[in-house]
Amino acid sequence: MASASRSFTRVLRSTPTASSTLRIPTARSSRLIFQQQVRRGYSSEAPKQAGSRNALLYGGIATAVFGGAGYFALGQQDSVNAVKAFTPSKEHYQEVYDAIAKRLVDEDQYDDGSYGPVLLRLAWHCSGTYDKATGTGGSHGATMRFAPESDHGANAGLAAARNFLEPIKAQFPWLTYSDLWTLAGVAAIQEMGGPNVPWRPGRADRDVSFCTPDGRLPDASQGQDHLRAIFYRMGFNDQEIVALSGAHALGRCHTDRSGFEGPWTFSPITLTNDYYKLLLSEKWNVRSWKGPKQFQDKGSKSLMMLPTDMALIKDKSFRPWVEKYAKDEGAFFADFANVVMTLFELGVPFESSEKDRLVLKRTE
Ligand code: HEM
Repeated sequence: MASASRSFTRVLRSTPTASSTLRIPTARSSRLIFQQQVRRGYSSEAPKQAGSRNALLYGGIATAVFGGAGYFALGQQDSVNAVKAFTPSKEHYQEVYDAIAKRLVDEDQYDDGSYGPVLLRLAWHCSGTYDKATGTGGSHGATMRFAPESDHGANAGLAAARNFLEPIKAQFPWLTYSDLWTLAGVAAIQEMGGPNVPWRPGRADRDVSFCTPDGRLPDASQGQDHLRAIFYRMGFNDQEIVALSGAHALGRCHTDRSGFEGPWTFSPITLTNDYYKLLLSEKWNVRSWKGPKQFQDKGSKSLMMLPTDMALIKDKSFRPWVEKYAKDEGAFFADFANVVMTLFELGVPFESSEKDRLVLKRTE
């Protein structure tokens, strides 16, 4: 799928970028093309059946989660003899990855043809609450399962991603939500043609008392000072802020979620460096509409940028990184993989070491 979706993007990108000659595929037409390519990508391979092995592994025993997250009991069997320590291996996490990847293909009627972007947004929002000064927040806990965090304005719409993952959680009950959400973020990036993102398990789910206060995630209507305040709090620097923002090559804004509207690029379900290219190559005007202040490309009037996106080209320290990533997709992919890996690990008291990170295999 990755290579298929990638070549689709290449086709789009071979279109001249002069505004007057841009050809904009409609959401419907791009979805159809993408679906055909996705299906072709899978046609040579039978879907993997994880069920039988899982049934053996989980049938009525208590299991210990890799990284020492604890035990949980399945079924009614009397314990002591039946309890066997279960330490998931890389293979087990690969099964979870494959199940997410398969579900991404199966559920291809959503939005622009993939749940990938909203899965990545879920993984980022559960991690981006981290505060390095107090050690609170971060991906350890999956506290967005609970109100008030699930009702924070910044998290509007993420129930779609959480619900998408429920069948996966049911299929792999030994996995915590917090490991599942971040692993889904990794799968989304890789399956949408992005770089490999090393990942390791070890997050526990925590209760409602660990919900973070509202206001820890960025407010898109603000500028560079706000971006720095939010991301420095997590421990990131200027280069990392720009690299992370490249995720906006993916997905779109929804009026019923953030109030903003539209995609950033013409290929919202394939990760590319087009976000940076478009920031620099297009002329961006304030959109005239009833919604919040956002920017619109002069040429096609079908793309958008948020005020925080525009801050990346206005700010003297951010801009050189935008220029670098616009010129060099390889550099963007390398830095993006690194910074996303760090993001997804914020606030996690791992028992494993950095060399235990797994690179899970993407779908061919
Ligand atoms: C720099 C500060 C950021 C701001 C102000 C911001 C703001 C937003 C907003 C307003 C939306 C639209 C939500 C909707 O209406 O559905 C959005 C979507 C999205 N954001 Fe960000 N974001 C930021 C950083 C990030 C980061 C660091 C990532 C990931 C590494 C990310 C990934 C995404 C994705 C993939 C979507 C599309 C979701 C979808 O299509 O449903 N964003 N962001």
